[in-house]
Amino acid sequence: MAIETTADPLAGQTKKARQLLVSSSRHSYDPRLDIDWDAPLVEGKWFLPEKRCTLYSTPIWDTLTLEQKIVSSREEMASSIGLGVWTEHMLLHMVSRYIYDRNVATPQVQFALTEVADEVRHMIMFANVVEKMGSEVYLTPWRIRESGRLLKSVVPVAALWALILLTEEIFDQIQREVAADETVQPLVRTMSRIHVVEEARHISFARTELERFVPQLSKARLSALRTLLALSIQTFSQEFFNPLMYSRAGLPASARKEAVANPYVRETFSSAAERITTYYRSLGLIGGSSARIWRKAGFLKADSRD
Ligand SMILES: [Fe+2]
Ligand SMILES: [Fe+2]
Repeated sequence: MAIETTADPLAGQTKKARQLLVSSSRHSYDPRLDIDWDAPLVEGKWFLPEKRCTLYSTPIWDTLTLEQKIVSSREEMASSIGLGVWTEHMLLHMVSRYIYDRNVATPQVQFALTEVADEVRHMIMFANVVEKMGSEVYLTPWRIRESGRLLKSVVPVAALWALILLTEEIFDQIQREVAADETVQPLVRTMSRIHVVEEARHISFARTELERFVPQLSKARLSALRTLLALSIQTFSQEFFNPLMYSRAGLPASARKEAVANPYVRETFSSAAERITTYYRSLGLIGGSSARIWRKAGFLKADSRD
């Protein structure tokens, strides 16, 4: 008698989730124990690599003392950590929604739960690092808070993984650079290293899920997702230049204008986004008019094709 076999369409995802669960058990951190919170800051070290500061090479930058530049790098790092905290909170809400309708006994859902736990630790780590740096937590501007409130509750699953991957990939690229840079404060480098290790698993899982969901989208839904991603990156590029980070660093209001026009910032954006934009093009998540929005926001190189 022939034995009936049915191929499991989720076998690939199940295997990947199992591997990631093992890796999570072996290589996770508790920042409360794995960061030396008693170590003093190192004098003369940056909080962000100098060439990644938004004012680097602008006329105002050359008028600042080294100390002022370092304070400015501290406020920029604190501001981007503030954005990071909001992003992590959005992600853990969205991953919880993915969990809600699924079977908790599956490796996929168990990894998603692990991811939520990781993000909770990251949010607390980020807040403590900002305090230790001698800065204050940057609260999310209300426009972003309000649009996020809706977004995290209504986006469909494919969009959820696409948004998660977008933010994780961009932060990942910058944090890899920060972790490797010896001119940067050890505290910030350790935070970045911890985050890079744990986020690598989230990125891997998001890619696996996305590659399953995107081919199932209708033309109209794919186009809507392209638009959502492009508008998200446009909003990110606008909110990135928080006026408060310049005023807290003691800089005049004109500093923000110089930063927005700074070609080095566009270079930072496009190099941080290179891996995700290449990947999204391959999936059809960037193209046509949406590519123009990505380019205008600085996240696609000016000479890239549509
Ligand atoms: Fe995280
Ligand atoms: Fe993550």
